[in-house]
Amino acid sequence: MTSQNSSHSSSVFVTSSTGKKVAVGLGILMVVLLIGYGALRFLSSPNERGAAAEATLNASGHQAVPAARLDEPLSPLRVPTGLDEQKVALGRQLFHDPRLSKDNSISCASCHDLARGGVDRLPRSIGVGGQTGEVNAPTVYNASLNFRQFWDGRAATLEEQAGGPVVNPVEMAATWEEVLPKLQADKEIAARFRAIYNSVPTAATVQNAIAEFERSLITPSRMDRWLLGEADAITDKELEGYRAFRRHGCVACHQGENVGGNLFQRFGVMQDYYAGRKVDDNDPDLGRFRVTKREEDRFVFKVPGLRNVALTPPYFHDASAATLEEAVTKMGRYQLGVDLPSEDVQSIVWFLHTLTGEQLQ
Ligand code: HEC
Ligand code: HEC
Repeated sequence: MTSQNSSHSSSVFVTSSTGKKVAVGLGILMVVLLIGYGALRFLSSPNERGAAAEATLNASGHQAVPAARLDEPLSPLRVPTGLDEQKVALGRQLFHDPRLSKDNSISCASCHDLARGGVDRLPRSIGVGGQTGEVNAPTVYNASLNFRQFWDGRAATLEEQAGGPVVNPVEMAATWEEVLPKLQADKEIAARFRAIYNSVPTAATVQNAIAEFERSLITPSRMDRWLLGEADAITDKELEGYRAFRRHGCVACHQGENVGGNLFQRFGVMQDYYAGRKVDDNDPDLGRFRVTKREEDRFVFKVPGLRNVALTPPYFHDASAATLEEAVTKMGRYQLGVDLPSEDVQSIVWFLHTLTGEQLQ
């Protein structure tokens, strides 16, 4: 996976070798489905519109839908199967449990409010004792689809990620030595860990339960219904916005199932986003450089997924865009080198609203 691809061709699969494999895989899948589709038309000549209307996300998410738009750079969400419901329920409880913080004041949900798009809508999150974090909090919805976690990709898995905030001094500011006895002393919690993991609560089992819960946070939206062939799931204006999003090349980076979350890219491909800003050696603006110390990773970030993005202002790792309009305009200028006409900005914003999915309470 190259982290420094300064070309921004609108071809989707130019950016990584994994991308090539995906492209080949998708090609094979398309051939199989096209043959299937032909056979189906031949046998039953179905009313295409009617067939498409039935194309809803089912539990497996792998349904072969005649009118599905398989040639799009975005792919419909697959609802996960095989999750352990007991772990999901335990993880959900732990996600909301402030005992994971030093002074029992902050839970994961304090910064990742599931009723507010999975974020706190603050430029910088507020942790234990009112301390503020370095970067804007991303959403936990659909985070399981990201190829790595955190803006700089420093965690490989959700399990690894879930350990971070507990011990982060400006987030939950605790140690596992403080947290685990609190959970072990809670008879109800301890019994559930015993039943599921045959163990007392440990760092590994707490992280696993939270991660399993996060894997359930998948939010299908109207755009998925459109991708599955339901033509009127989005309005004409929104479709126009999607076309602009494709035409301008946003899909070179924001693509696939999470509309992003599958590559690293420099913030400021076409123009220096940090011109005039002082960036010292440990500045979070350095992005992935802080993890790898490689020159080419300076200002490189994980491309964020754009699902539910209408619910998660402010934008960018440094919260430097207050509105979606501003974020889209800046993306045009700094990532694509174009000053997008304001009609296109507006229309892309309409499209981005179609990515708002079903939220939990
Ligand atoms: C004080 C606020 C705060 C708390 C508490 C908190 N987070 Fe976060 N979370 C953040 C911030 C800020 C980031 C981004 C940090 C970074 O990228 O360096 C983040 C990143 C994440 C990510 C990565 C998402 C992505 O797209 O990369 C996940 C997943 C996540 N948090 C889950 C959790 C879980 C699980 C807990 C509880 C164990 C938790 N968070 C507690 C603020 C918080
Ligand atoms: C060359 C890759 C690339 C292209 C092309 C690109 N983006 Fe981005 N996008 C990124 C990266 C990287 C970030 C994260 C920047 C940061 O915060 O450091 C981002 C962030 C965003 C965000 C903010 C998300 C959030 O949660 O904060 C939005 C919205 C967005 N892009 C929309 C677009 C649109 C619309 C286009 C087309 C006009 C576009 N992007 C083109 C790479 C790209």
